Amino acid sequence: MRHLMNALDLSVEETENLISLAESIIENPERFSDVCRGKKLATCFYEPSTRTRLSFESAMLNLGGQVLGFSSADSSSAAKGESVSDTIRVISGYADICAMRHPKEGAPYVASLHSSIPVINAGDGGHNHPTQTLTDLLTIKNLKGRLDNLTVGLCGDLKFGRTVHSLIDAMVRYPNVRFVMISPPELKIPEYLRKDTLDARGIEYKEVNVLEDVLPELDLLYMTRVQRERFFNEEDYIRLKDSFILDARKMRLAPEDMLVLHPLPRVNEIATEVDDDPRAVYFKQAKYGVYIRMALIMTLLEVIPEC
Ligand code: CP
Repeated sequence: MRHLMNALDLSVEETENLISLAESIIENPERFSDVCRGKKLATCFYEPSTRTRLSFESAMLNLGGQVLGFSSADSSSAAKGESVSDTIRVISGYADICAMRHPKEGAPYVASLHSSIPVINAGDGGHNHPTQTLTDLLTIKNLKGRLDNLTVGLCGDLKFGRTVHSLIDAMVRYPNVRFVMISPPELKIPEYLRKDTLDARGIEYKEVNVLEDVLPELDLLYMTRVQRERFFNEEDYIRLKDSFILDARKMRLAPEDMLVLHPLPRVNEIATEVDDDPRAVYFKQAKYGVYIRMALIMTLLEVIPEC
């Protein structure tokens, strides 16, 4: 039995297998419509979510399985003080696989230690969000045609943004990927990521605070929201929340084939006028989340159909 806590739990080869499986699903979804018949997915979400929870549920339903779960800590017995480890022991008797989101870093890992079913980290605090990373990789591979030889712009909250941390971890494994980090000084990437991942591997990157200056050199622009829920101080949030706003004027500075990704939800950081630009692929990216989660559920449950 395998769990997924971090995008790096999967080797490059395993990641590519998942992406290929997701691409097969995109081409022929009918082929997979019954492979999880009789199986149940539990979604245990202690923190709000639209895409991750509903795309997991959509994925399991598309595979012919069933879903159960809770969408907030308040609607579960966590509100009465039940621990994550007790909860997963109980859920192990109700479902075959569990996707868990929790505001505390490491909570899904604790669950995995006490679980007899596969546990998938669906986002733990500011730490990791591996299925978002798999979604991002599928989107880039499918729409850009490659995961190597890319200049990737990461913009917004690079300090607390777990999707950015996981994406950096995953993309440094591909050749000739360089990063341009665009953030206010207060929201730069954490020191451990700079030292242990970028510097340790000799990855090329630069840090800037003007988006317009670097747009012409990007293959991808990964926008992120400044997350109110991660700030201790409301004044800091208000000061920083609108640091970078991508609009149609700025998009004119970008290459014609630059893709704009965003894990969503967005607040103000991408003006709605950008949505109709063919380079804006964030809604397609959200849809790809269903396909990669279908591939992941099949892989962890070992129910991939024969070719
Ligand atoms: N991208 C993402 O994790 O969205 P949700 O918070 O809506 O799940």
